[in-house]
Amino acid sequence: MKTEFNIAVFPGDGIGPEVITEAVKIIKIIESKLNLRINLTESLVGGCAYEATGCPLPDDTLDIAKKADGILLGAVGGPKWEAIDFSLRPERALLGLRSSLGLYANLRPARIFPALLNASTLKPEVVVGLDLLVVRELTGGIYFGEPRGVGTNDDGHKHAFNTLVYSEPEIQRIGKIAFDVARKRNSKVCSVDKANVLEATGFWRDVVTKLHSQFSDIELSHMYVDNCAMQLVRNPKQFDVILTTNMFGDILSDEASMLTGSIGMLPSASLGEKYSMYEPIHGSAPDIAGKDLANPLATILSVGMLFKYSLNLEEPNKWIEMAVEATLDNGARTLDIMSDGMNQVGTQEMGDLVATELEKIN
Ligand code: IPM
Ligand code: MG
Repeated sequence: MKTEFNIAVFPGDGIGPEVITEAVKIIKIIESKLNLRINLTESLVGGCAYEATGCPLPDDTLDIAKKADGILLGAVGGPKWEAIDFSLRPERALLGLRSSLGLYANLRPARIFPALLNASTLKPEVVVGLDLLVVRELTGGIYFGEPRGVGTNDDGHKHAFNTLVYSEPEIQRIGKIAFDVARKRNSKVCSVDKANVLEATGFWRDVVTKLHSQFSDIELSHMYVDNCAMQLVRNPKQFDVILTTNMFGDILSDEASMLTGSIGMLPSASLGEKYSMYEPIHGSAPDIAGKDLANPLATILSVGMLFKYSLNLEEPNKWIEMAVEATLDNGARTLDIMSDGMNQVGTQEMGDLVATELEKIN
């Protein structure tokens, strides 16, 4: 069994460094529990990299990413960099990592911990037992389509444009991921598109339908994205796996996160043929950065996904989920999930409490 691993750690901007510090504590505990050797290599990404080097995704960072068995990322961006050229914005670093590493499959699980039933803005009976997975295509669609830009049209008016384009192989490979993971879950895939208006997603629907013939044990349904947005708050438990495009997945996963109580709870895995990256789905939250207020649980749960998908170690993921569950059961809450009668803790204390629970698991 392989026991030595390289993990690239990119804290990024805003609350990124704070939540990553807590996640690293968890990595260290698993390392000693399983007698592993885990080499952590940190590097700059996003706004902090732009400040230090003039580039949001320096070559060094990309090299470190390529040498790692898995990448753990905090968050990028902030108001400080909103006015700079698009090509230099911190977000470009994230998109650059996703595309240069071929991370086309983004898994965003939304599962509610029983202790957080009252933290959701939805009625407890609507979300109790919720366990869905958004499979978002991550390296194509309107995020990357060409042509794109700002220019002047034939009438002399300024205009701006982006392109929504998907090729058959791009849809097939992400569809295959969705059907495969559905097999390990409740065997249901709902493919989300806007096939009534957009040719590119009508094509998406056709390709997914054709691919489904190889996965006849899986129940496939199709839904328009506007309906899906509505169904997610009406009856989210109807979903098992939601398969969708890059932009729809961006939007629907933020919506799904709120079903679980807070966007601070949702981890994610971005997988490709060769590389993989793990990050909380929340952003850099500049308004609370540096105040010990951020919820580190999404990042801690992302560490679990890293062990499972990149290091092929299933147990640490289960242990981490158990430790998070126990911590929540004991009443610890960061501000975003705080409710009456609970014990409000900061980022560091939340990390320490999960670490203590994790230590207890044999
Ligand atoms: C996400 C984020 C990113 C995205 C931004 C920061 C570029 O919202 O990972 O969901 O739009 O993909
Ligand atoms: Mg998003």
